[in-house]
Amino acid sequence: MSEWTIGIIGGSGLYRIDGLEDAHWVAVTTPWGPPSDDLLVGHIAGVRCVFLPRHGRGHHLGPSDLNFRANVDAMKQLGVTDLLSVSAIGSLREDLPPGYFVVVDQFVDRTFARTKSFFGTGLVAHVSMADPVCPRLSAFAADAARDAGAPVTQGGTYLAMEGPQFSTRAESLLYRQWGCDVIGMTAMPEAKLAREAELPYALVGMVTDYDAWRPEEAGVEVTDVLQVLHGNAALARQMLLRFCAALPAVRAPSPIDRCLDHAIITAPEARD
Ligand code: ADE
Repeated sequence: MSEWTIGIIGGSGLYRIDGLEDAHWVAVTTPWGPPSDDLLVGHIAGVRCVFLPRHGRGHHLGPSDLNFRANVDAMKQLGVTDLLSVSAIGSLREDLPPGYFVVVDQFVDRTFARTKSFFGTGLVAHVSMADPVCPRLSAFAADAARDAGAPVTQGGTYLAMEGPQFSTRAESLLYRQWGCDVIGMTAMPEAKLAREAELPYALVGMVTDYDAWRPEEAGVEVTDVLQVLHGNAALARQMLLRFCAALPAVRAPSPIDRCLDHAIITAPEARD
């Protein structure tokens, strides 16, 4: 048994979180290079939290330029036990309109220009990604979003695209045919690296647009995305408050805390 430290990665539109008590920014260096920004450490409802604006304050890093390994490493260094991502997403389903919160449980990774592992030559590991999110953390997040008054869908498949351009109509229609529910540019390789770092991970996506599959609608514009996000800011804040307030006092271990026990394939005598 241990205590929680919740890492919160804020996506587009979420560059700071109000309501963090005793908050101070901490600069962290990692073997992988610099994280997106300093990390804000404080408490929400008595729970230690570490917040990182994924794109940096001012949003100066695009999705393909994010140092995902440094971000996850910095969280780990600051004692984070569980990682919650709060991200803008596009909707691939009519019944998930802008304003909806989707607690995703699957991913299709179509990114191709990112470093996706902490492992490689010298130490090879293959973690299981069959169930890429932590069910316990996801359930807490969905309950918190509901309690905050948000329209919430629990479960859904997130298509991770490279970007930075939004999808063409043909791509958007294809992803719908594949059975994907929402689309975004940043959950991968974040979720994979969180698993390699033995961090339980959950993603709350805030739907900002219908992507490009609806024939009667113009494509996505950043101004629309930001407008929805700003409208949701108070709800997101409430969700985080309720999420922390509802966590049990002690943290029972998760199987993800020790997932590398089954993942490293390099023989001990062959490791660098
Ligand atoms: N983030 C928000 N909306 C998006 C969309 N339609 N495609 C990719 N990422 C997004």
